[in-house]
Amino acid sequence: MPYYELCNRVAKAVEKAVLPLIGKPEAKTSMGMGADGTVTEKIDKVAEDAALSILESDGRSIRLVSEELGEKIIGNNPEFTFVLDPVDGTFNAVNNIPFFCVPVAIGNADLSDTRYGYVKNLVNGDVYTAQKGHGAFLNNKRIHVSSRSGFPEMSFLSYTHHPYAVPANNHRVRRVRIFGSAALELCYIASGIFDAFIDMREMLRVTDIAAGKLIVEEAGGTVTDGRGAALRTPLDVKQRLNLVASNGLSHDKLLELV
Ligand code: IPD
Ligand code: CA
Repeated sequence: MPYYELCNRVAKAVEKAVLPLIGKPEAKTSMGMGADGTVTEKIDKVAEDAALSILESDGRSIRLVSEELGEKIIGNNPEFTFVLDPVDGTFNAVNNIPFFCVPVAIGNADLSDTRYGYVKNLVNGDVYTAQKGHGAFLNNKRIHVSSRSGFPEMSFLSYTHHPYAVPANNHRVRRVRIFGSAALELCYIASGIFDAFIDMREMLRVTDIAAGKLIVEEAGGTVTDGRGAALRTPLDVKQRLNLVASNGLSHDKLLELV
């Protein structure tokens, strides 16, 4: 599995670079504005530089799309696009909140043509992978989405900017959580721990969700925008999108909520 090897080498380099900075005040030092339009903190820059040095020494021509640098063409004729968020969950990482990861997707032009997804949990080392058409895995063991379909039994990951989220139409669900790393949270849908993920803030970037989207789909789930349409967002860090991901059983009901 050549993509696995490359992703794993990048994730290990990122891990080595960021772990000494976790929870350290200097990790938050501003390094200027990133290509995605948000501030690059020192931890993001250190992580991206570590990833870049692995990709540049790989030997293949690669188009890198990454949150801080935007786009970089390595070599003359890219074989694929390597979509990277050097640290997903930066707020958590710099504040020593143990929930952050490094997500990588390998694709071509937009979110619909991802062929490989890889997410490494940098706190406990868990690795989620998916290859298009070949299923999704956690540490090499096959994973599947849940089979819960009634709202009263379902566990939601749901982002909001409202200080108190009132359930739409007075629906009640079993539990709602927000952990702060969309890439890793999507893996929790894929592994069946949670049943639905909703983020309608128009803030997500392709780097946050490209890997997780394929992992959810390969685990049997459904991922759409807020209108139920397939996501075809170009692999460009300036794009923003909404996302509804679920085990697929109540997806239409979820879309009515948003
Ligand atoms: C953040 C995470 C989080 C999402 C934010 C993103 P970052 O990514 O994905 O889950 O809610 O919108 O900014 O900034 O830590 O890479
Ligand atoms: Ca980031």
